[in-house]
Amino acid sequence: MDTNTSSYTPLPSGTPATPRRPLKGFAVIFASVIFLMSLVALIINQGPPQQDGHHHKKQSASTASSETMSYSRLPRGIAQGVSAKSNPSFSDEASYNWTNAMFSWQRTAFHFQPERNWMNDPNGPMFYKGWYHLFYQYNPDSAVWGNITWGHAVSIDLIHWLYLPLAMVPDRWFDANGVWTGSSTILPDGQIVILYTGSTNESVQVQNLAYPANLSDPLLLHWVKYSGNPVLTPPPGIGSTDFRDPTTAWIGPDGLWRITLGSKVNKTGISIVYTTANFIDYELLEGVLHAVPGTGMWECVDFYPVSINGSKGLETSVNGPGVKHVLKASLDDKKMDYYAIGTYFVENNTWIPDDPKIDVGIGLKYDYGRYYASKTFYDQNKERRILLGWINETDTETDDLEKGWSSLQTIPRSVLFDNATGTHLLQWPVEEIEDLRLNSTEFSDVLVEAGTVVPLDIGTATQVCLRICNLCYIPFS
Ligand SMILES: *[C@@H]1O[C@H](CO)[C@@H](O)[C@H](O)[C@H]1NC(C)=O
Ligand SMILES: *[C@@H]1O[C@H](CO)[C@@H](O)[C@H](O)[C@H]1NC(C)=O
Ligand SMILES: *[C@@H]1O[C@H](CO)[C@@H](O)[C@H](O)[C@H]1NC(C)=O
Ligand SMILES: *[C@@H]1O[C@H](CO)[C@@H](O)[C@H](O)[C@H]1NC(C)=O
Ligand SMILES: *[C@@H]1O[C@H](CO)[C@@H](O)[C@H](O)[C@H]1NC(C)=O
Ligand SMILES: *[C@@H]1O[C@H](CO)[C@@H](O)[C@H](O)[C@H]1NC(C)=O
Ligand SMILES: *[C@@H]1O[C@H](CO)[C@@H](O)[C@H](O)[C@H]1NC(C)=O
Ligand SMILES: *[C@@H]1O[C@H](CO)[C@@H](O)[C@H](O)[C@H]1NC(C)=O
Ligand SMILES: *[C@@H]1O[C@H](CO)[C@@H](O)[C@H](O)[C@H]1NC(C)=O
Ligand SMILES: *[C@@H]1O[C@H](CO)[C@@H](O)[C@H](O)[C@H]1NC(C)=O
Repeated sequence: MDTNTSSYTPLPSGTPATPRRPLKGFAVIFASVIFLMSLVALIINQGPPQQDGHHHKKQSASTASSETMSYSRLPRGIAQGVSAKSNPSFSDEASYNWTNAMFSWQRTAFHFQPERNWMNDPNGPMFYKGWYHLFYQYNPDSAVWGNITWGHAVSIDLIHWLYLPLAMVPDRWFDANGVWTGSSTILPDGQIVILYTGSTNESVQVQNLAYPANLSDPLLLHWVKYSGNPVLTPPPGIGSTDFRDPTTAWIGPDGLWRITLGSKVNKTGISIVYTTANFIDYELLEGVLHAVPGTGMWECVDFYPVSINGSKGLETSVNGPGVKHVLKASLDDKKMDYYAIGTYFVENNTWIPDDPKIDVGIGLKYDYGRYYASKTFYDQNKERRILLGWINETDTETDDLEKGWSSLQTIPRSVLFDNATGTHLLQWPVEEIEDLRLNSTEFSDVLVEAGTVVPLDIGTATQVCLRICNLCYIPFS
C-alpha cells in the first residue's frame, strides 16, 4: 500500500531529523493542519430514479413525516430476515426539531448516498469498460427499509458518482418481496453474471440470475432476469429465510465455478458452497466452507484471496503459494462485519483460520464504528481489491423520514494483507481520494500550554490533520 504519510501531514521545514535530548517541562509543539475546502462532490444529477412499475408511489419527506407514528416501533426488515435500521430504545423519544438547513448540511459531501430515501447494502460492485459500477439496496419510495430494488450508480474514480436508473425492481414472483443483496462476476469470455437473493411472493429466500441486456453498453443500464429463476432454493436443513447474499464466483481447478452463501444452523453461523458450470445448474458441496458456533446468522459473506508478500490485490479465483483467503461474515445478531484470515483448501471445500482464537465472528472486525454488509471486488483496472461498506447513521427512523434519506456508503478502501502483523488486513481509502484535497494550511511553532485554547483560522475546514511533535526541545543548561 502506498501510504506516503507526507502527503497527508507535511512537516514544517526545519524539523530536526533526529530527536534532541528532551528537557522536562519545556516543549515546542508543532501542529500542522491540513484542511480541505468543502468541495461538494460532483454528483451529476440525472433526475430521480424512474420506476416503470405502476405499483410504486413517490413519497415525499413531508408526507412521510405525517406517518411517523406508524413507523416508530416495528423495525422493518428484521422480521423478514434482513438487517434494518431500527433501535427500539429510541422509539418512544420525541423527534428532534430539525430544520431544513440542518438536513442539508447533514448530507455528505464525499460519501456516496442516493439523492433521497433509504439505502443499505452495496451490491455487485465491478469495473467495466472504464466505469466503476455500484449497485445498492434501495427503497425508491421512502427513507425506511422496504420495497427493495437495486439502485445503480457509476464512477470513473470511485469518488464522484453519476446516478443511473434503477437496475432491478421487485417485479417477478421470485423477487416480489425484494431484490436483495448479490454480487457480480465477470467471466473470462466477457460475460457478466449477477446472482442475487430474491424474497419471493411467499417470502422464501431464493437465488436468482441476471445479466446485462447489452454488453456493449459501458453503463450496463438494462438488466435481464433469467426466465428460469430461481436458480437456487433453500436446501434441506436450511431455513427458508436463512439463505442469502451469494458472493462473486471463483473458479476451481476442476473448471467449475463456486459461490458461497451465508446461513445458520441453530446458533452456528455457516457458509455453504455451490459449484456450477453455467450459473443455471448448481450442486451443493458436502459440508461447509466454515462454521463458527454461537455467531448466529451469517449475512453478506465475502470470500477472497490476498497476497502475503505483494502490494497488489488478487483476482477472486487466485489460489496457491503465497496466497491466503479472507472470510468475512456480517453477523445479523450483532450487526458487525467480522473477518479472519486463513487457508482455503479447494480440494475438500474447507477454509481454516490461521488462528482459531480470532475466527470469523469472534475476532477482528473490518471497522469498529457503524459499518455493515460490506463487499469487496477485484479492480482489474488498478490491480487492487476494493472494499465497500454500508454506514447506518445514528438517528431514528422518525428523523430519517423527516430528512428524507437514510444511510451512506463508506469511501471505498483498498485492502491488503498486513505482512507486518501477519494477522490483520490493511485498509486505506482509495488513492483517488487525494484528488479532493485542494488547499492546505500549515501552522508551525504553535505552542500549546496546558489547559489553553489556541484558535487557528482554518476557514470552512472539512478535514483537520494534526501532528503533534514533542521532539523539538531546546537544549539549555
Ligand atoms: C412499498 O410500496 C408500496 C406500494 O407502492 C407502498 O404502499 C408502501 O408504502 C411501500 N413501503 C415502503 C416501506 O416504502
Ligand atoms: C442501524 O442503526 C440502529 C440504531 O440507530 C442500530 O440499532 C442497528 O443495529 C443498525 N444497523 C446496522 C445494520 O448497522
Ligand atoms: C419541538 O417543537 C415542539 C413544538 O414547537 C415543542 O413542543 C418541543 O418541545 C420541541 N422539542 C424539542 C426537543 O425541542
Ligand atoms: C407465488 O408465485 C408462484 C409462481 O407464480 C405461484 O405458484 C404461487 O401461487 C404464488 N403464491 C402466492 C401466495 O401468491
Ligand atoms: C448497445 O450499446 C451500445 C453502446 O452504448 C449501443 O451503441 C447499441 O445501440 C446498444 N444496442 C442495443 C441493441 O441497444
Ligand atoms: C438444533 O437445535 C435443536 C433443538 O435444540 C436440536 O434438536 C437439533 O439437533 C439442532 N441441530 C443441529 C444441526 O445441531
Ligand atoms: C510486505 O508487503 C509490502 C506491501 O504491502 C511489500 O511491498 C513487501 O515486499 C512485503 N514484504 C514481504 C517480506 O513480503
Ligand atoms: C510471493 O510468494 C510466492 C510463493 O513464495 C511466490 O511464488 C511469488 O512470486 C511471490 N510474489 C511476490 C510479489 O513476491
Ligand atoms: C481439508 O484438507 C486440509 C489439508 O489437507 C486439512 O487440514 C483439513 O482438515 C481438511 N478438512 C476436512 C474437513 O477434511
Ligand atoms: C486556502 O486557505 C487560505 C487560508 O484559509 C485562504 O486564504 C485561501 O483563500 C484558500 N485558497 C483557496 C484556493 O481556497
